[in-house]
Amino acid sequence: MNEIVAPLLAWGVPRLRDLPWRATRDRWAVLVCEVMAQQTQVARVVPKWQQFMQRWPTPGDCAQAPLADVLRLWSGLGYPRRCRNLHLAARAVVERHDGVVPNDLASLLALPGVGPYTARAVLAFADSADVAVVDTNVARVLARVTGTALSSRVSQELADATLPKGRAWEWNQVIIDFGAQVCTARSPRCSECAIAGGCRTYATFGTSWNADADPARTSALTSKPQARFDGSDRQARGRLMKMLTTSGVRVADVASVMKLGDDDRRAWRLVQSLERDGLVVVDGEWCRLP
Ligand code: ADE
Repeated sequence: MNEIVAPLLAWGVPRLRDLPWRATRDRWAVLVCEVMAQQTQVARVVPKWQQFMQRWPTPGDCAQAPLADVLRLWSGLGYPRRCRNLHLAARAVVERHDGVVPNDLASLLALPGVGPYTARAVLAFADSADVAVVDTNVARVLARVTGTALSSRVSQELADATLPKGRAWEWNQVIIDFGAQVCTARSPRCSECAIAGGCRTYATFGTSWNADADPARTSALTSKPQARFDGSDRQARGRLMKMLTTSGVRVADVASVMKLGDDDRRAWRLVQSLERDGLVVVDGEWCRLP
């Protein structure tokens, strides 16, 4: 793996995408963008991150806001449980760390919704600490370069061993961009790849890409094909959440807001799941944001 480091840095540093959060070294700002970017396209994250940071520039500001306000801003990003966890994390930072996002891995991992990727991203991108992040992009690159489906533990170990010390900020951003733009999930641009010469998957398949034999397909941490959205529970829940950002909804109207016809049983089951997730409150005959 180490032979790819110099060519990938040489390729990537001049091409780093100009993303607004790359200009900050504030741990809270980095935490917010990494939570937003995990399951949402960067183009949609940019304006939301800017609005969020303007409104709640510190964990203390966010902790004081009602969750309903944070959910309203979050609307359109999807996966609102991330938003609730971020709000809980802001409150935990205030209670446990005097309002300052901590800079050690164990304390970060103890925050709600913060996993191995997000915790390391805060350390690498805010503090330039020598830690390697493994998100879906990085996991895919590691699997392909080694030509092997990797467990999450081995992926992290390999990423740690590959990290060029002292250049963690640049290296992690470059490998994320490389995965997002060249070594993409469905149709990698091997003819444009700066490290094809060191890639085991390229050595095997050359330019005749074989998706079935892609080691990233069965590797841990890589994104798997998404379940159908149309007609899904996630779509129905999203419709209710969107409506709730502007007004309360009568329990009797939930199935219609979710576009579930007269399937009140399914609608009620979904309301209960949102309630369990702390995203909806049922108050007599009304549903509202918490
Ligand atoms: N996706 C997740 N984190 C990112 C980052 N720091 N830059 C670009 N895309 C990302």
